[in-house]
Amino acid sequence: MAAANYQDDDFSDPGYGGSLSDTTTIESAALNYPFEYGRRYHAYMAEKRYGLPNDIAQQDRLLRHHDLIKTRLGGRLILAPIQEHPQRILDLGTGIGLWAIEMADKYPSAEVTGLDLSPPELGESFHNEFDPVNVRYIVDDFEKDWVDANIDLVFGRFLAGSVEDWPRLIQQSYNNLKPGGWVEFQDWDTMIYSTALPAEDFERSELWTFHRDTVALQESRGRNMRPGPELEKWIRQSGFENIRAEKFSLPLGPWVQDDKLEVSCI
Ligand SMILES: C[S@@+](CC[C@H](N)C(=O)[O-])C[C@H]1O[C@@H](n2cnc3c(N)ncnc32)[C@H](O)[C@@H]1O
Repeated sequence: MAAANYQDDDFSDPGYGGSLSDTTTIESAALNYPFEYGRRYHAYMAEKRYGLPNDIAQQDRLLRHHDLIKTRLGGRLILAPIQEHPQRILDLGTGIGLWAIEMADKYPSAEVTGLDLSPPELGESFHNEFDPVNVRYIVDDFEKDWVDANIDLVFGRFLAGSVEDWPRLIQQSYNNLKPGGWVEFQDWDTMIYSTALPAEDFERSELWTFHRDTVALQESRGRNMRPGPELEKWIRQSGFENIRAEKFSLPLGPWVQDDKLEVSCI
């Protein structure tokens, strides 16, 4: 299953950190991380230039976002009503791999595959022999052609700025699902707004200007930073049925008054 070169790029025995066998060459290439201005970036497919680092500061950010979004979803990892005993779950752009681990624990019947340009890391020793046996990680590009995959659930979270061609990615997901399978994307509109200030005042703030410029910069590189509002349309166009789109606001900043929302502010 999963992307082309799957066998070549198969990083691990279940639970990355096991034996290297014939994957040593790819491992060293994928771990040969470039540094720029003190930040560390992915090495595999470096020409793709996924814009964000993969160092400890970024791992920490992804850990916080994992907790944040789970809290906002009432402790749930997914909203899709997947069957009780899924066999194959694919996590696109798995990052630190924590969602994959928690899904593997929750669904012991499933083989959960986390796919990313970098092997998962969360501090030095997070991924080890205690990872669930039914999770594994692959270093590959999810925008390559996939090999016949037969998946129960394709999942992608926080892929804003990662994807060159969203409709194609979603179509590939559709084409590689089992009949009755599900896709779930949990993603942002990274453009912010204020519920307290008139738009003309808020749009003079540095916070708003920073977001506007970041979105524009990424868009000039062909990366959509606002996929959230478009997901339903793309999913519909790919031929899916039984589609549900849910919107959640995420307050920005520590000044949020609402107790429930405060837990999940960015
Ligand atoms: C913002 S992180 C989100 C990580 C994770 N999904 C989460 O929710 O915490 C985006 C991830 O997508 C990965 N990524 C970006 N482009 C990719 C590609 N073409 N193929 C595979 N992974 C990719 C990045 O390396 C990064 O780990």
